[in-house]
Amino acid sequence: MTGGTRTTSGPALAIRVPGDKSVSQRALILAAIADGESCIQGLLRSADPLATGRALQALGVEIDALEGAATAPVRVRGTGLRSWRTPATPLDLANSGTGARLLAGALAAQPLSAILTGDASLVRRPMERIVAPLRRMGASVAYLDQHGRLPFRIRGGDLRAISHASPVASAQVKSAVLLAGVGAGTGAEVVEPRRSRDHTERMLSAMGVEVEEAGRDDGAWVVRVAPPPARLAPLETTVPGDFSSAAFFLAWAALTGARGLVVRAVGLSRTRTGLLDVLSRMGATVRVSAETSLGGEPAGDVRVEGQGGLRAVEVGGAEVPEMIDELPILAALAARAEGVTRITGAAELRVKESDRISALVDNLRRVGVEAEELPDGLEIEGTRRKLAGRVRCFGDHRIAMAFGVLGATQGCDIEVDDPAVADVSFPGFWRLLDQVGRTDGRPSPPECVVVAIDGTAGAGKSTTAKAVADQLGFRHLDSGAIYRAVALGLLDSGREMSALEKIAKAELDALQVHVEWRGRSMEVWAAGARIPNRKLRTERVSSLASRVSSVPTVRDHLLALQRSAAQGPGLIAEGRDMGTVVFPDAGVKVFLVADARERARRRLLQNGQAAPSSDRIEAEAARLRERDARDSSREAAPLAAASDAVRVDTTNLLPEDQVDEIVKLVERRRNRS
Ligand code: DC
Repeated sequence: MTGGTRTTSGPALAIRVPGDKSVSQRALILAAIADGESCIQGLLRSADPLATGRALQALGVEIDALEGAATAPVRVRGTGLRSWRTPATPLDLANSGTGARLLAGALAAQPLSAILTGDASLVRRPMERIVAPLRRMGASVAYLDQHGRLPFRIRGGDLRAISHASPVASAQVKSAVLLAGVGAGTGAEVVEPRRSRDHTERMLSAMGVEVEEAGRDDGAWVVRVAPPPARLAPLETTVPGDFSSAAFFLAWAALTGARGLVVRAVGLSRTRTGLLDVLSRMGATVRVSAETSLGGEPAGDVRVEGQGGLRAVEVGGAEVPEMIDELPILAALAARAEGVTRITGAAELRVKESDRISALVDNLRRVGVEAEELPDGLEIEGTRRKLAGRVRCFGDHRIAMAFGVLGATQGCDIEVDDPAVADVSFPGFWRLLDQVGRTDGRPSPPECVVVAIDGTAGAGKSTTAKAVADQLGFRHLDSGAIYRAVALGLLDSGREMSALEKIAKAELDALQVHVEWRGRSMEVWAAGARIPNRKLRTERVSSLASRVSSVPTVRDHLLALQRSAAQGPGLIAEGRDMGTVVFPDAGVKVFLVADARERARRRLLQNGQAAPSSDRIEAEAARLRERDARDSSREAAPLAAASDAVRVDTTNLLPEDQVDEIVKLVERRRNRS
């Protein structure tokens, strides 16, 4: 996967992209047939997964925080393999081919009847490829409008196991049959002409289903799932960044050449990353680092540097399924590559969100690039000419984003007719492209390294955070002091405290809580005056701060204030939600925990008790446990470790060892970028 040999230098621009669309959709559907509560972190909240989630809710599946903030974990309460109920209305999968096809597979096993439909683009896409095998398994499907197209009514029930020889390498077809076989308890086998992406198989394995896979000499790929156990284990998963979203920015880096760009924590399944080899062949430098596993998928940081001048490539055969969604952005790269790029073996592109072969050729010509359609692909002649014109998206997010990227490079004046379609898979795409584009060619501002230190009450956060900040010369953000300042302001205002949850934004504005920095140290101000620390630490303030901090309006109000502290070489951000909500992109995240009795002992010592008795320690420990339970169960920003946080148990650590451990994590992180 590694490309050219030139070593990279200088700080690259680092970004993150939203969660993987394919993984998000599958996680929702599979969690909905599991037995028990699944927790999905990093779910992509874009139009496609939301449509799938809403359809599952209409089938009676309880899903929490489906439409919550990007960082909020989604909880799905699965009630078993065949527990869905007949929906009151047709299930509208909007633009989502994955949602419609996978859900049809899962529905085939349910003893109920449901109508599936979608938007104007989805009702043109072929469905017979999944309907035929599902009928063979025993499901009954009636097309309600046109043969082979949505809407259709599916009636599921008793199925039999089949071996399905799919004429296309399509993960959606494969997943539909496997889901039907798992749901019905029969198992199933799929033979595909080439291996397609394997997210469903990985997730099924994680849930306790036996999955066997093997390649055949003729290049075909066989996947077999055994009859599943009666209960599927719920999922505890973190969705990696979507490689197909990252691809647009990696391509941008290859096109602009000026400096490297890193996309962090992105999914790197071999069945998806074909573009990386192609970028190397085109002459860009590709480097993968920080390899890890997220949600059972390989993941890591990908860095791409353009080396000035790309070369045309030939792409076809086995490579195509591994980069099927990246062919639109490859076409944009080819427009600027020297020579003729030829893409073949990609007839599948004709039945994507649009006929991508004709959409690409039409649009390339519109902006001044010579391109030809082939029955199963296209040819593009790269050029250095100025490219200008208005492109048509045909309701297709990847067409919009591919030409958006090309348009964001030098010598292009390209308008996209329907930029909003990017939301289908990549909310925030245009804002990120704009940000990245504005840094093009200029030296990057020195990056402020953010270190998030969260943890339970009394685990040693504040002493550790302060010492780490001193050692590294970073700012220390004590977010608890800001919540305390709000509590103090409310107490001073004489407000009635019984209905805190109804507090208005105007009331919070009136307190004028803000932070000023004296060098690296933080001062908290309110109503035009600095608040001395001792006033923030009284029992009355502590107890109101704990209530105030559970009010969402208060948390939202303080968000921008906390984020603005990230300036200078680095910030140690200490609190309860630093790594999850305030700085979800923090370079280092630490979650401190310690045994409750040890925390109680430390607290009593800190409060001046020389040798606290065992009873007092136990009483204080009980109070701490109670507070942890309250902080972890509150609705707004509950105390929880970020999925990528390093847990440090301080029960048996000396304070200086805790500090050392965190400083080392920061140094390692700095050496990486
Ligand atoms: O860390 P501390 O004890 O000074 O925090 C005061 C209160 O504010 C405490 O009840 C927890 C809450 N808090 C929070 O909810 N989120 C933060 N980021 C920091 C503190």
